[in-house]
Amino acid sequence: MFYQCPLCHQPLQAALLQHIHRVLAPQAQALLDIGCGEGYYTGALAEALPAVQMFGLDISKAAIQRAAKRYTAVELCVASSRRLPFGDVTLDGILKIYAPCDGEELARTVKPQGLVITVSPGPRHLYQLKAQVYDAVMLHPIKAEVLPGFTLQAEHTLAYEMSLGGDEAAALLQMTPFAWRASQAVKQQLLDTERFACETDFIIRFHQRDVE
Ligand SMILES: C[S@@+](CC[C@H](N)C(=O)[O-])C[C@H]1O[C@@H](n2cnc3c(N)ncnc32)[C@H](O)[C@@H]1O
Repeated sequence: MFYQCPLCHQPLQAALLQHIHRVLAPQAQALLDIGCGEGYYTGALAEALPAVQMFGLDISKAAIQRAAKRYTAVELCVASSRRLPFGDVTLDGILKIYAPCDGEELARTVKPQGLVITVSPGPRHLYQLKAQVYDAVMLHPIKAEVLPGFTLQAEHTLAYEMSLGGDEAAALLQMTPFAWRASQAVKQQLLDTERFACETDFIIRFHQRDVE
């Protein structure tokens, strides 16, 4: 099960909805959320864009089952992003939040001038949580994102502080790639904390499919 604290993710969800609303072509018909998990962003987009068919795809059957119970307007499927179950040039946009996908599959399925929207961690993402685990915290390196067949149109940063309960902080740690480095003592210390303040730092990128 994925930990989805509304307080932590609501500002990112609101920012995505606002940006997508502004840039999505008015005639857009189909959007796909790759690695949609339990559908937190997918469901919100389906509600905000009723004229667009929203699709969600994830390799986790359990996550898709949970999403299906909550978001009935979304078409969901269990599949790997290595081979998207969509025809050539059928999607007006793809959302990819911390999920893998081959560039060729993005280029194959997105219509000319369609969008790929990615969210990746900025340098200070989860800084205070990392400080619990590592003696010296390394800032997350910013990597340029090159998607063959697409041109980067816009890049936005979003940073805010989360105020988490101890159980929320411990659950968030479990979701991170550095959880395996955390000792049992660190996990217990987090659980015993009343409030844990932690920075988020996101990079939101909009890539537009080239017209060939
Ligand atoms: C960190 S979670 C993000 C979930 C969701 N996008 C969100 O932000 O709430 C990454 C998701 O990608 C999915 N995933 C990982 N590899 C995948 C693959 N090859 N194909 C499809 N989904 C994948 C995982 O199952 C997981 O739900």
